[in-house]
Amino acid sequence: MYGLKKRIVLSDVEPSREIRGFLVSCAVQMMKRRPIIGGNWKMNTDVESGMLLAGAVADHVGTCDCCEVVIYPPFLYLQAVDSVIDQTSLCLGAQNIWHEANGAFTGEVSGAMLNDIGVSSVLIGHSERRHVVGESDTLIAKKMKTSILDGFQTVLCIGETLEEREAGKTLEVVLGQLQTGLADVAPAQMQMVVIAYEPVWAIGTGKTASPEDAQSVHKEIRKCICGLYDESIANTLRIQYGGSVKPENAAKLFACQDIDGALVGGAALSADSFNAIVTAACESYKAQEV
Ligand code: 13P
Repeated sequence: MYGLKKRIVLSDVEPSREIRGFLVSCAVQMMKRRPIIGGNWKMNTDVESGMLLAGAVADHVGTCDCCEVVIYPPFLYLQAVDSVIDQTSLCLGAQNIWHEANGAFTGEVSGAMLNDIGVSSVLIGHSERRHVVGESDTLIAKKMKTSILDGFQTVLCIGETLEEREAGKTLEVVLGQLQTGLADVAPAQMQMVVIAYEPVWAIGTGKTASPEDAQSVHKEIRKCICGLYDESIANTLRIQYGGSVKPENAAKLFACQDIDGALVGGAALSADSFNAIVTAACESYKAQEV
């Protein structure tokens, strides 16, 4: 009886598959993406200044829910920083992960270890790991897979060098890194992924991509995700911009349609400047009409 009732409900009342698809697509297009601001501290701070900085950011973030804020201290200070932000809405991230669960991997840190100390987000494929340490696309794809399986929000960093940009290869490089990085990521796992577009020539140089240049690459990234997965995944995916983001340029970047926050380096080392960037993201989110 229950089965019959259920069948009548499905066939007589529910919209057709086409109409359902259309409604989902409208809903997704109307959905606002909550900005995500990451503070990548790189190899900076010490235990005391790190704890103070984290505390000042946590105080500013308070209970605000219009923006997600994650800080990525050096591995060694994760635990100390966690003790400061544990009961706050500020999230703790790691700058790297190793793709094996345990074993003879001197100097590396596993997902289980990061889970142990309260990490919820992991950066993968940062340009300094690609270009200074020499991490390959293959290694990055393995780390993506592990990080997602270990339950972390996983931020795939991609971006072209100045040489590549000047040779007209920006999209070839960026979309190539995107596809290889996501090679083993299933559609259902994409909700755990954030993309950070960080042109290498803009990192730590004071040169920011113009909002128009950044927006046009972000738009292509979203289009590529639509082809690799589907429109709904593409429309919900958050794409951060990184590269000399400061309080002075943040609002213009966040006003772009496909820029959903920032991954901040130098300006994340000062609570005043990082907090101002967080405020700019919140204001841009509140100003979006839906
Ligand atoms: P800067 O903000 O210092 O340019 O660094 C960007 C970055 O690499 C964040 O991951």
